[in-house]
Amino acid sequence: MSTILITGGTVVGSAGRTEADVLIDGEKIAAVLAPGSTLLGTDLKSSVDTVLDAGGKYVIPGGIDAHTHMQMPFGGTEASDTFETGTRAAAWGGTTTIVDFAIQKYGERVMDALQSWHDKADGQCAIDYGFHQIIGDVNDDSLKAMEGLMGEGISSYKMFMAYPGVFYSDDAQIYKAMRVGADTGLMTMMHAENGPAIDAMVAELLAQGKTDPYYHGVARAWQMEEEATHRAIMLANLTGAPLYVVHVSAKQAVAQLAAARHAGQNVFGETCPQYLYLSLEEQLEAPGFEGAKWVCSTPLRARAEQHQDQLWQALRTNDLQMVSTDHCPFCMKGQKDMGVGDFSKIPNGIGGVEHRMDLMYQGVVAGKITLERWVEITSTTPARMFGMYGRKGVITPGADADVVIYNPSGHTSIGLGKTHHMNMDYSAWEGFEIDGHVDTVLSRGRIIVDGNQYLGSKTHGRYLRRDPSQYLI
Ligand code: URP
Ligand code: ZN
Ligand code: ZN
Ligand code: ZN
Repeated sequence: MSTILITGGTVVGSAGRTEADVLIDGEKIAAVLAPGSTLLGTDLKSSVDTVLDAGGKYVIPGGIDAHTHMQMPFGGTEASDTFETGTRAAAWGGTTTIVDFAIQKYGERVMDALQSWHDKADGQCAIDYGFHQIIGDVNDDSLKAMEGLMGEGISSYKMFMAYPGVFYSDDAQIYKAMRVGADTGLMTMMHAENGPAIDAMVAELLAQGKTDPYYHGVARAWQMEEEATHRAIMLANLTGAPLYVVHVSAKQAVAQLAAARHAGQNVFGETCPQYLYLSLEEQLEAPGFEGAKWVCSTPLRARAEQHQDQLWQALRTNDLQMVSTDHCPFCMKGQKDMGVGDFSKIPNGIGGVEHRMDLMYQGVVAGKITLERWVEITSTTPARMFGMYGRKGVITPGADADVVIYNPSGHTSIGLGKTHHMNMDYSAWEGFEIDGHVDTVLSRGRIIVDGNQYLGSKTHGRYLRRDPSQYLI
């Protein structure tokens, strides 16, 4: 078991920042000490195996990305990052835990689906990983199986109001599943878009010859998101199920969440970096087929409609609680290009697991969120929301030593050439200049990124059995 002392840094948590040294013993944080402390008369620097100098840098709990889709079969292809490549890229970007989605497809049994996701991920991850369970076929057998999820370390499940014929659940199915969610304490996660109405609009646009990627955004109008968000909230209200709405992009959906929260309901929401920075006009409407790079659902919204200001504000007021990536990468060649001449055939998804910590830190640089809030929305709240807090999301004695040394004076240029580590032939973030740099990353006490060196291994990451949400009132 090796010992590490991180000295001279500013330890930042959701509740505050302090100058402190962090002592790591094996996989755990052993102590957070006043700078230069001795322990029982021993000079720590000379008695540990490794000293990491964090002078002038932030020492933060490793990022937790609670919404990723590694090697997800979707849109007639499969997301291009495997658990191996995707978790390695996450590590490079200061994320030390992911919660991915095990998918029950139509006609499949839930526990068989879960097992197949273990088969894909176990022994392949550079960092710790958990699963949410997607219920893609709500029937009596699935409802029964949901009662066994907690026992598998899965405290959240997800349904889709979008994608008819793929993962879609109708209102009756949602109602029934939420009843189980309310009884078992599972967090209900929802992709809230009105799928049937969207598909009708897609057919109309294609019949008019409107086939460019831009029309993906037109068809998935904000009304489709607001309406579904409202419906999900009302069904959750009726059944008493806690609700977490994924990838919120429209300001009108934020308003629905805020109203329900102010009325006292256990309703939560995440947004993603793409909705905070990218737009319908600048990305989806790019010339030719370029816009396909940014086809994702919910879609990028019109900058002119000022959704982004509302999303940032909601992150400040806690009407949105956290930021995940919805990492679902596809290459342009051989994947996105399936939709040349028909935007509805472009596989939906953006890759970004590597850039979330850096991109959200720009909110600190721009004065939109505090340093503490940055840590909270990228690590501490995901840990609490999804039952990992104490082990993850905080630098405190007894917690897993998942630690990032972040250099605020560093600089990161994204995507100019192949600067990223995700398995993609482009970057959705190409050209972004980041103030700040992930210098060192530790996962359970092991240094996995050291400057420009990758020291991780795909056998290091462990399956995380999660507890019920610690965020519920
Ligand atoms: O476009 C997206 N978001 N693809 C991944 C699947 C989903 O809806 O989250
Ligand atoms: Zn979704
Ligand atoms: Zn997703
Ligand atoms: Zn670097």
